[in-house]
Amino acid sequence: MSRFIIITTSTDFEQRVRLAVSDGLHGSVQRLPESAINGAPHDIMHIDPAEPPEVVLLGPGVSTDEALKLATVMDLQFPEVSVILAADSSPDLVLTAMRSGIRDIVSPGADTPTIRVMLERACLSSAGRRRGLSVQGNSEHETGRVIAVMSPKGGVGKTTVATNLAMGLGKVAPMSVVIVDLDVQFGDVASALSLSPEHTLVDAVTGAAAHDAMVLKAFLTVHSGGVYALCAPSNPNEADLVTADHISYLIAQLATEFKYVIVDTAPGLGELALATLEQATDAVWVVGMDIPSIKGLRNGLGVLHELGLIPQGRHVVLNFANRHAGLNIQDIEATIRVPVDVVIPLSSALPFATNKGVPLLQEGPRSPASKNLRKLVERFEPEVSSHMRKQLHRRVVVS
Ligand SMILES: Nc1ncnc2c1ncn2[C@@H]1O[C@H](COP(=O)(O)OP(=O)(O)O)[C@@H](O)[C@H]1O
Ligand SMILES: [Mg+2]
Repeated sequence: MSRFIIITTSTDFEQRVRLAVSDGLHGSVQRLPESAINGAPHDIMHIDPAEPPEVVLLGPGVSTDEALKLATVMDLQFPEVSVILAADSSPDLVLTAMRSGIRDIVSPGADTPTIRVMLERACLSSAGRRRGLSVQGNSEHETGRVIAVMSPKGGVGKTTVATNLAMGLGKVAPMSVVIVDLDVQFGDVASALSLSPEHTLVDAVTGAAAHDAMVLKAFLTVHSGGVYALCAPSNPNEADLVTADHISYLIAQLATEFKYVIVDTAPGLGELALATLEQATDAVWVVGMDIPSIKGLRNGLGVLHELGLIPQGRHVVLNFANRHAGLNIQDIEATIRVPVDVVIPLSSALPFATNKGVPLLQEGPRSPASKNLRKLVERFEPEVSSHMRKQLHRRVVVS
């Protein structure tokens, strides 16, 4: 949750801010009376000590001089907060505003999408400064869970599982989830999430972002479901620019910034997938209800076992499950030699969601497929105690 404070005389502007926040920013907006512009930053920060603001919007309708004064003190006392000025800008104002620590200037007439983009940027930079401050004070840093979604075969539902897992975990831990598309040549996470990324995996592993976790974060694309995404390049030729070393470093960096790093992979056990498995805490193995896919998984698991590359968390998802495939779960488990943990039925809701670019767990209707995808999400929720973890591989049925 982010908190937005606004000091303005304009109810119309406040309304547009509220609409912008409600469009996927996971936050609450509080309007303060005009007189608050003469107050101290301390008063603003302590209105609700449990949830201090990340973004403070000043204007329109308030005195620009007073706004700049407040911003100057805010910048010194609470540098993590992004202060935004809503005023008609001029070159002179931009310069003074910059010197006062104002992070952005927005026109009072800006439309809701413009305000949303600006607020998103403000939250991101506030989060970055907060993290910078806390890292200075505390070098102990817990790293997040790295969940690799894998299968030897294509078309078995890896991207479907990865994007739904991201949406589900995004509800549990808003803005603490990143999904990375490592199907570098033909990745379709962007399309499954209706994203038009400005930057892609290639930008994230080359140039400035490769050396600085904060820059890297600015290269991610924010999805309205409260998750970040690092999408594959749109040109398959760029795939050659990404190496296994890049991926090892990238994943390590992301795991210091996010609670959950979900990695969608290309079919098979290519070098990028192996580099991911080296760092993964969990692997979700997706298998279809057909012999090639099932045998492929058995052989793949065998090879990885020999290489010592099986992550500790094991989650086997049987996808496209249906009674008419001529196979039952026991046969499949006997072949792959590990239990199936989650069964996702063959469902027309899934291709529909893929084509629409809205994963089932983002807003889809309740269906057997979404219910079981949620069961997969639950396996990664923090409340799942170690006691329950021991029972996680329980018997499932195909209905
Ligand atoms: N359980 C299912 N029932 C029906 N269609 C599914 C199911 N799971 C996935 N699909 C569809 O199959 C296609 C391939 O899935 P995708 O997740 O892209 O596979 P992969 O990433 O392994 O290549 C997509 O159109 C997807 O919507
Ligand atoms: Mg895929």
